[in-house]
Amino acid sequence: METKVISIKTEYENALKTAGRLLNEGCVVAIPTETVYGLAANALNPDAVKKIFIAKGRPGDNPLIVHISDLSQLQPLVKSIPGKVKIMAEKFWPGPLTMIMEKSDIVPDVTSGGLDTVAIRMPENAYARDLIHTSGLVLAAPSANLSGSPSPTNAKYVFDDMNGRIPLIIDGGPCDIGVESTVISFTNDKPRLLRPGKVTVEEIEDLIGEISIDDAVLNQLKDNEKASSPGMKYKHYAPKADISIVKGSLQDFIDYTSDKDSFVLCFEGEEDNFKNAVTFGLADDTLSEANRLFDALRELDEKGAKTVYARCPDTKGVGLAVYNRLIRSAGFKIIDLQSKENS
Ligand code: TXA
Ligand code: MG
Repeated sequence: METKVISIKTEYENALKTAGRLLNEGCVVAIPTETVYGLAANALNPDAVKKIFIAKGRPGDNPLIVHISDLSQLQPLVKSIPGKVKIMAEKFWPGPLTMIMEKSDIVPDVTSGGLDTVAIRMPENAYARDLIHTSGLVLAAPSANLSGSPSPTNAKYVFDDMNGRIPLIIDGGPCDIGVESTVISFTNDKPRLLRPGKVTVEEIEDLIGEISIDDAVLNQLKDNEKASSPGMKYKHYAPKADISIVKGSLQDFIDYTSDKDSFVLCFEGEEDNFKNAVTFGLADDTLSEANRLFDALRELDEKGAKTVYARCPDTKGVGLAVYNRLIRSAGFKIIDLQSKENS
């Protein structure tokens, strides 16, 4: 299949019309959002949604997020709308927040990965919302990468993964945020964070009170542990290189890596200390780290890195999202120089 690319910068109307037509015909189209690019199809058409799983190579039990452009589209998709969801939607939608609720019967099982719940998000990206509105559809869209690789934050990376697999990519330029949405479940009494993102735990708790943080946000699931979010049990965000996170000061990190013939993933401004370095944002600016992380992981592959030592991000605020992605891309390998000093 030939994969066409249409840029919204030069052909906005054509991008809306062509993508809308293909989506209504049951095809898959890659679209920009403010977080990462999405692989979209009509969420209520099981045959269309199946094509997403095939294009990504995604396991069928890993559910998709349904994207809406208007609050009126929420009610038909869910059994009921919890009060806290209404409060969250008012503050954070449109935006990088996904909320999970009990699903209604119109949501096909293939979209929800066989679960009786559904994840919903109203993206902020103007093109994405225009497309949902003008196509008259709600769109199921996972990140537009091949299953297991880092999520794409520009159209070139979507093309690298999806060329020949889907008919159309809409190029909306680089994504503003660079990591996927915050995912929070409202299916139990206490809301539970399943995936950290730009909307932080601190911001959520300020608004609706205490939430719980799923174990899998920071830790590797044990072999027999059931994942609250099926996506958490699969290998994720992994470049070809073998990554380890190194906890400790910059000087410890320099000393530790100096005799190793490897790449380092460090913060901006630190790169002159190393022979082969790729940077991922500023040490004291977690938003810039979120913005750079997936691109940096892909750059390491492009440079042919085999072994990589990564600086450890701060886990406060948006840093939790950065750490959550980096630790998965490292297969949970952490070298703790601090605790060695202490012991
Ligand atoms: O920012 C984003 O959320 C991007 C853009 C395209 O909107 N989408 C995205 O989708 O990251 P995806 O499929 O790559 O990640 C969705 C995550 C997966 O880990 C999935 O397991 C989880 O959300 N999820 C979806 N529906 C769920 C449900 N009903 N219950 C539990 N987890 C769910
Ligand atoms: Mg994904």
